[in-house]
Amino acid sequence: MTDHVTTHQAEEDARNETILIWVNGRIVPKSEAMVSVYDSGFMLGDGVWEGIRLYDGKWAFLDEHIERLFEAAKAIDLDIAMTPESVKSALLETQKANSMQTDAHARLMVTRGVKVRPFQHPSLSRSGPTMVIIMEHSRPKIPRPIRLATVPHMRGLPMTQDPKLNSHSKLNCILACIAAEKAGADEALMLDVHGFVNTTNACNFFIVRKGEVWTSTGDYCMNGITRQKVIDLCRANGIPVHERNFSLVDTYSADEAFLTGTFGAQTPVGEIDGRLIGTGQMGPVTERLRALYKDLVARCA
Ligand SMILES: Cc1ncc(COP(=O)(O)O)c(C=O)c1O
Repeated sequence: MTDHVTTHQAEEDARNETILIWVNGRIVPKSEAMVSVYDSGFMLGDGVWEGIRLYDGKWAFLDEHIERLFEAAKAIDLDIAMTPESVKSALLETQKANSMQTDAHARLMVTRGVKVRPFQHPSLSRSGPTMVIIMEHSRPKIPRPIRLATVPHMRGLPMTQDPKLNSHSKLNCILACIAAEKAGADEALMLDVHGFVNTTNACNFFIVRKGEVWTSTGDYCMNGITRQKVIDLCRANGIPVHERNFSLVDTYSADEAFLTGTFGAQTPVGEIDGRLIGTGQMGPVTERLRALYKDLVARCA
């Protein structure tokens, strides 16, 4: 298949060649934004990150993103060495330097920093964390509903790299995505350790059956901020919503399926493992939730 699509596709924007990037407190041109080859993130994927979007001058759900970043850093025993307020200031400083007002996406990354030797032990990271903010002009452009394929790569138990961590190392998800692409799909639908449908390699996953919205229990997947907003919007607008276990049988016969994530908000799914989902196009519940979410973002801005 040649027409692959990804859930993080955006319009080409030439301005992204000349963006300014925040690297450890300095704002530098993209061509000069570098970290050491000894960096824990480069060497071992030892770090955590957040993806955040700018709509009409306001970073959507910023407090939730910063809170999740600090929670993840605490979980991996990484001292960010900044307060949540100063991380927010760094984000705003980068936004100002790039004169961005809307339709921008930030990837805020913190690693355990530069190591003194090229080995795993965290005690070898002695000079403090590395923090980088990449901020790009970004208008999602996903030309058609996504095709998913289930893959052998699972969402694991919390004892082995808790899937709730937005860690730099995403190898499990990357391998899942590669397997899905090789199967002719766009991205991967991942099952949990019990075989229930859980999430995709980069987004949270929902189905709609007979007007009800279903998503996984929330175990084994990212505690997505967009996922939670969709659940809250359903509850506030009289749309039945369930966080529950469900299988591929329930999924293939769903009326609609969609993904959630900060980048694409709600992205329709047209096909899973070669089965058409509903009509294969965006369904009415997904469309309604997209409108409700857009409105929520506008109200919060
Ligand atoms: C594996 C995975 N699932 C879901 C999400 C979506 O989370 P959010 O809605 O907070 O962007 C992300 C985003 O970082 C992710 O990496």
